[in-house]
Amino acid sequence: MEQYAIKGGNPLVGEVEIGGAKNAALPILAASVMTDETVYIENMPDVRDTNVLLCAMENIGVIVKRTDRHKVTLNASNISELVVEDENIKKIRASYYLIGALLGKYKHAEVALPGGCDIGCRAIDQHIKGFRALGAEVKIEHGLIKTHAEHLRGSHIYMDVVSVGATINIMMAAVMAEGTTIIENSAKEPHVVDLANFLNSMGANIKGAGTDVIRIKGVSHLHGTEYAVIPDQIEAGTFMFAAAVTKGDVTVKNVIPKHLESITAKLLEIGCEVEEADDCIRVVASKPLQHTQVKTLPYPGFPTDMQPQITVALGLSKGTSIVTESIFENRFKYVDELTRMGANIKVEGNTAIIDGVSRYTGANISAPDLRAGAALVLAAMSAEGFSTVDDIRYIERGYEDFHLKLQGLGAQIELVETERDLQKFKLKIG
Ligand code: UD1
Repeated sequence: MEQYAIKGGNPLVGEVEIGGAKNAALPILAASVMTDETVYIENMPDVRDTNVLLCAMENIGVIVKRTDRHKVTLNASNISELVVEDENIKKIRASYYLIGALLGKYKHAEVALPGGCDIGCRAIDQHIKGFRALGAEVKIEHGLIKTHAEHLRGSHIYMDVVSVGATINIMMAAVMAEGTTIIENSAKEPHVVDLANFLNSMGANIKGAGTDVIRIKGVSHLHGTEYAVIPDQIEAGTFMFAAAVTKGDVTVKNVIPKHLESITAKLLEIGCEVEEADDCIRVVASKPLQHTQVKTLPYPGFPTDMQPQITVALGLSKGTSIVTESIFENRFKYVDELTRMGANIKVEGNTAIIDGVSRYTGANISAPDLRAGAALVLAAMSAEGFSTVDDIRYIERGYEDFHLKLQGLGAQIELVETERDLQKFKLKIG
């Protein structure tokens, strides 16, 4: 019964070190199978999703060594299997990156259909369309996506929707295809750019990542590399909003401020002070929060992965705010839990209409998915009284040492496993 026990009401104050980006680390790990030489990766987050992927990679013969908590070396010269059916791999979204990576290198891959957070229909038609355009056959059988190609040939692919996953997968499949591939309407997220930089450091020829047209000239092989994963935009944004909701003063360190611009802009709009330096950002929330409107959009728009966190903040802001979710249709499930803490939010379709309240009150709540789980922890930290947050395995998928980092900022939060631990925590905090 692992859960977080939280006593709210403390403003969070201090500095917090942000780790490597989960959503960049996952495709980078998968892409490491595309060379027979050794790959060294630094700034690897130690979170459940990356560990599940590493385990699945070991199961197909990749030699994985963690040289310390955040450094890993991989060698895929002796891959023994092109079928990835690991029980756990089905639970993570990024399992499908092994399709693009294995198809690109070995022209064959069979991978269990991806899971991930239940935040709406998560189609893979654009991935399939891309693989087929490159000359692969794709079929779905017995819960596996099976792809095979005699030759992969560069192609001109127009994406019908902006998809991070499809852009990344097609990029990997195209890296060693014959000729040139052009991906139009590609995703521009920092982790798309990070993967392109990683592949280029292995000898790939990818241009335009970070714009909506990516050009890939196929190369015959990729070599080993040393690479550091970019800082996690969403972990940083979550701690920035933790400052806002607890009326705190938090500096996020080891970040790329450019990646956080849409988040910074909203924090300024709702009345926080934000100071930027080269690789850190300080957020101070000394004044009452103000209402605003926000719509989630692909990068550089406001990230859908920050939607629950901003909603929690707007629930405590003066006036009426509107949050529109334009990426995933089922991403307001946490609102029921927030309502139990006193929020006044009405959801109509993909829009939440939020009438700010002056405070939340503690409650026993459950994390419905990764980002919403983190957002509910923020709500509990701002709330009057005591809360528990269940189903924290979702939060552990993407946040390393979440409760420890929050403790470092003065939060009264503990990971408890038994009723006895819970009672002990309650006695300790009084
Ligand atoms: C990735 C991130 C996730 C983030 C999301 C949007 C990872 C592991 N996950 O998810 O945290 O919330 O980007 O920034 O990096 N779509 C299709 N057909 C497809 C693919 C996608 O219609 O073939 C649609 C989806 O249903 C969704 C939208 O496109 O509405 C965006 O999805 P996508 O960018 O692919 O998200 P993921 O890569 O799954």
